[in-house]
Amino acid sequence: MFQSSDFQRYDESELWIFHDYYFKNIGLKAWDSGAIPFTGATNYSEARKKALLLVENLRLCGLENSDDTIKILEIGAGSGAFAENFLLAFENICLAEDLNFHKRLKYFLTDYSQFTLDELQRKKRLKEFPNIIFQNYDALEDVRSSSLSASIGSFHCILSTYLLDQLPCRVIAKVDNTYKEKYIKLIIPEKYLHNEKLFHEKLLKKSKWIKKIKKVFHYEEIDDEDDIPAEDFEILKTCFRKTKESTIIYSYGAKISLENSFKLLHPKNGLIIASDFNAAARGGVDLYEPCYYGNSLAQPVNFDFLYKSFAKQQKVVLFEDPIRPLHTLIICAENFEHPLRLGITYERVFKQNILLRMLYQFLLEIKQSIHILLIISILYTTYYIFTLYEQNFSAP
Ligand SMILES: C[S@@+](CC[C@H](N)C(=O)[O-])C[C@H]1O[C@@H](n2cnc3c(N)ncnc32)[C@H](O)[C@@H]1O
Repeated sequence: MFQSSDFQRYDESELWIFHDYYFKNIGLKAWDSGAIPFTGATNYSEARKKALLLVENLRLCGLENSDDTIKILEIGAGSGAFAENFLLAFENICLAEDLNFHKRLKYFLTDYSQFTLDELQRKKRLKEFPNIIFQNYDALEDVRSSSLSASIGSFHCILSTYLLDQLPCRVIAKVDNTYKEKYIKLIIPEKYLHNEKLFHEKLLKKSKWIKKIKKVFHYEEIDDEDDIPAEDFEILKTCFRKTKESTIIYSYGAKISLENSFKLLHPKNGLIIASDFNAAARGGVDLYEPCYYGNSLAQPVNFDFLYKSFAKQQKVVLFEDPIRPLHTLIICAENFEHPLRLGITYERVFKQNILLRMLYQFLLEIKQSIHILLIISILYTTYYIFTLYEQNFSAP
């Protein structure tokens, strides 16, 4: 065995290089083979909720009676499954409500993988939608020098699903009053390090290969040289649990991507809608292992941090799915003049599930859910057997 590197800060480790290599070279196989799960946030009903919210917003902004082109940007579009369902839902809503937004629509479908974009076009997966423009865009790049520079300040809506959890982040623990962060060392067998071809083959052909690479983790104290902006640090401090030890994710990549989106957003009418997995603060010094999909890694997002980062200047709404750890962050443009609403459908789902949500969060909080459910099931089964027994044996 060969130690590929010394300990590196988690977000600077080779894991992220493998992750980028995987997405930039795997193409649609990642989704077609089932390596990357996607239906949770890209299905028709999830896409329809967003389409309804957008239509509601376009009306609110008075765009019903104008000829303006409606511009939508999707970032990290991957297989195009979300775009397909969203565009279908958007058209259905417009037809049902006698609106012409769908006829005035330009949908910029973007990803940082040119390979995936080319394959999507070559295979004509979205051929029923002539209003799609395929473009390469990296969520972390400076928009002024990006392929979207001509569209700065023009999008009515910027969408992403399962993108924010793909962007680099750091894992920070609070122990008493000191702050530490996760470092990682990968132990890669020497044969791969000296044979680039074999290495690349493994990344593209063997699903979850990076999960199997031996890894060693530890926490190191954060010192002055660590470049966490003071403003971010102040917010992060409020995200920990009140326990003696607690760990959180510093989703700085997600924050950069949202800041870039603001520059692209229409300053009066625009909305950002981003759905992803949430990472709540944990008690103890937790290693927060990422999820490995294919040979990519997904590190759920600290929505608490993102919400607090933007709530000072913008109107922000955070929708927590009642059952899944899926969160949807809705942020409006700088000069948005209307009250920011969660959207009729989101609100309905929220209200319908309020009891379920409370119960679920209560069970999560006390971390005893399984035990309690087990006890309830045993009590119920005993009661059921007992009543059956009584019915059978007490009859004359
Ligand atoms: C987990 S997939 C999600 C794909 C799709 N949105 C879905 O929900 O099925 C993440 C996608 O984000 C893209 N991606 C990752 N990092 C990116 C970045 N920095 N900028 C733009 N796209 C990125 C990947 O190429 C991949 O297509």
